Amino acid sequence: MSATTANPLFARKPIEALHTAGTGQPEFNRTLGPLSLTALGIGAIIGAGIFSLTGIAAADNAGPALVISFIIAAVGCGLAGLCYSELAGMIPAAGSAYSYAYASLGELVAWIIGWALILEYAVGAATVSVSWSAYVVSFLDSFGLALPHALTASPFDLDAAGHPAPGIVNLPAMIIIVLVSLVLIRGISESAKVNGAIVALKLAVVAAVIGFGAFYVKPENWHPFMPPNTGHFGHFGISGVLQGASTVFFAYIGFDAVSTAAQEAKNPGRDVPIGLLGSLAICTVLYVLVCLVITGLVSYTTLHVAAPVALAIGQTNMPWLKVAVNVGAIAGLTSVMLVMLLGQSRVFYAMARDGLVPRIFATVHPHFRTPWLSNILFMVFAGVAGGFLPISLVGHLTSFGTLLAFVIVCIGVLVLRRTDPGHRRVFVTPFSPWVPAAGIIVCSTLIYTLPWETLELAVVWLVIGLGIYFTYSRNHSRLAKG
Ligand code: ALA
Repeated sequence: MSATTANPLFARKPIEALHTAGTGQPEFNRTLGPLSLTALGIGAIIGAGIFSLTGIAAADNAGPALVISFIIAAVGCGLAGLCYSELAGMIPAAGSAYSYAYASLGELVAWIIGWALILEYAVGAATVSVSWSAYVVSFLDSFGLALPHALTASPFDLDAAGHPAPGIVNLPAMIIIVLVSLVLIRGISESAKVNGAIVALKLAVVAAVIGFGAFYVKPENWHPFMPPNTGHFGHFGISGVLQGASTVFFAYIGFDAVSTAAQEAKNPGRDVPIGLLGSLAICTVLYVLVCLVITGLVSYTTLHVAAPVALAIGQTNMPWLKVAVNVGAIAGLTSVMLVMLLGQSRVFYAMARDGLVPRIFATVHPHFRTPWLSNILFMVFAGVAGGFLPISLVGHLTSFGTLLAFVIVCIGVLVLRRTDPGHRRVFVTPFSPWVPAAGIIVCSTLIYTLPWETLELAVVWLVIGLGIYFTYSRNHSRLAKG
């Protein structure tokens, strides 16, 4: 395959060239096995989605039928996950969707995806840091430790009624981003150990919610299972279940981060697909069960709250379980940030290695073997965003960046089947071209259901990205320089 085509904008990077770093920098440590990779996936998946958004989607959109919304969102992610697995088995390099796009659709599309992944990973981590701060504030408050509003809210915060309630800075959000980044700089195996411990804790909490909660379910709360539509699109009925699916899609975001760590996996071709699909399957089963339990414990009409799982568990007369749920949520949100910022630094490392952003960000720490300057850049970016910005307004951008990457990965499978039919595929997406085509349709439909303001902001973000590409990246691209 040629490295360049008539139009350099669409020059594709040979797959073989993606296997090696080629930067003269130390190599990353290859320490991750199938279990650590699956734990990374679960670390990134279980967080604000299940612990916060479930209640709002049940109360406003779908009622107990939210369980169907969870299954629909899982199908969309599963289609993309199968495509990710094929490409991860073919191109086991850092950078995930960005690297796959470079090999299949060329440099310009790769740049757009790398730029959009900042929305998924860095903006996603900033969004989750604000939820983390809210959980910590309310947890400490329940022990009589009130933190001042001025230091726990951004200058743009609103109160529950939507009125301005400005603070100075959201300090807890900034502090957790710094702490998580320091763990990441320290090393991949340290990060995987911290993640593994947090994942064990949050899985135990989720299992306790299901196991103990099931005994207190009142089946009458599941009637009506799918409340009738109120006459407004998305407000119960079938349209409500669909809108619920686009809301709870957030709960699945993150499994793809497993593929960003391919360069740190012992046997990436085999183990990255196991991590991707294994974490997605485990979380789907847990989400369906948690959803059945909480809509069975209390009426869905009462669930429009920030901590719906804790509210529902309040019915079990087990105060310790309520405390455990809050601890599980705080732990869960921590590992989501950890894995998202891990993924972000690996994607940016790959972009720097290719010369599309300053090469300094491909510097690997000689001792820790991590892309530490990328980690520091995104520590500052996500920390400032979490501390000072009205992050709730841009939270949907995380879903946009993720869905765009999913669509491109599905297209990438179709393209590489034509351009590189003979390349070894450790994992083969079944029923191609139907599975990738269905992935493109489902994920594009979910993009279409995002709020209009989100799409406007996404266009502004992409225009800024294109400006950088045409003024800097194109002139510094290693591929273009041959
Ligand atoms: N899936 C992650 C969460 O729910 C982003 O927090």
